[in-house]
Amino acid sequence: MTLVNGTLEKAADAINPPALSQDNGLTFVDLFCGIGGFHTAASALGLKAVFACDIDNEARTVYSRNYGLTPMGDILEISEYDIPDHDLLFAGFPCQPFSIIGSKGGFADPRGTLFFEIARIVRAKRPRGIVLENVKQLLTLQKGEVIRRIVNDLTEMGYDVDYRVLNALNFGLPQKRERIIIVATLADMDSFHWPSGTVPMKPLDEILESDPDPKHLVSDRIRSKRHEVHTAEVTPSVWHENKSGNISSHQWSCALRAGASYNYLLVNGERRLTPRELLRLQGFPEDFELDSNYSQARKLTGNAVPVPMVQSVIKEVVDVVKRTEVAGIGSKA
Ligand SMILES: C[S@@+](CC[C@H](N)C(=O)[O-])C[C@H]1O[C@@H](n2cnc3c(N)ncnc32)[C@H](O)[C@@H]1O
Repeated sequence: MTLVNGTLEKAADAINPPALSQDNGLTFVDLFCGIGGFHTAASALGLKAVFACDIDNEARTVYSRNYGLTPMGDILEISEYDIPDHDLLFAGFPCQPFSIIGSKGGFADPRGTLFFEIARIVRAKRPRGIVLENVKQLLTLQKGEVIRRIVNDLTEMGYDVDYRVLNALNFGLPQKRERIIIVATLADMDSFHWPSGTVPMKPLDEILESDPDPKHLVSDRIRSKRHEVHTAEVTPSVWHENKSGNISSHQWSCALRAGASYNYLLVNGERRLTPRELLRLQGFPEDFELDSNYSQARKLTGNAVPVPMVQSVIKEVVDVVKRTEVAGIGSKA
């Protein structure tokens, strides 16, 4: 992570890079779409969505308003044959069974089996590229058995598979958010290369609103409690309360979390992040509309995938597809 004065402008560009083209001819599906971190990233690269689904009503409403595509609901009730053909498949599948704060049941937990719904669709539709996202604890779950199973299943279906833990901090966002990204491309295509992830972090004061609604201020009691035990070395900063109640503060935010306590993250130890700030911390553009109530806004943004991070990965996958087409190799070239 770098925070350098001379490169701030470059950092801002990197967070919301200009669209490569209006339409690059490639299509995608957005499974477990939430508010569409994958969609925002992919459409900036000229890809077109042909299908999305999410079981959450509010996520579907927000998605529909912002992208003009109404997601279907529960993936368990969607036949793979009702999903249009597509080039790329994206899925930030539910992380509860894999998260350190959730159960460690993995595939034993029914929610963990949602990977098998992705596998069912991949088997039927054979997209050229796949990008999956989950919490990094997926790697150690059941002594690595869960990630091994995912890689094996995709490999048996004819894909080259690779995975890596990426951190949103290295893709221009002032949010420490580590996620495992799994990339699979049809084995007869050109090779995939990971993005370098050396984008300077956007400074926190470009994320924070200059005149936030006072309703986001915490009570005097909470404020005094925080300031009794902690003094920040820099301003502005985001104060983080860990599970043991210890407070730390940084020039970046710890990972937004869907179900965290209201005071888990506080700007300068005195106020909660506004919905616009939550969106900015995930790299959503300024024209993204989110007028859900505050608790829904926290949940939806806390679940989202960081836009510039997956945009860098998707760009590399698109490059694989394009290189394969130019070389005239691969079953779908
Ligand atoms: C980690 S979030 C993905 C967020 C998304 N990538 C984004 O950028 O906003 C997982 C999503 O899966 C959805 N989900 C959970 N179970 C589902 C199911 N059975 N069918 C469809 N969606 C489901 C949740 O509502 C949640 O929005």
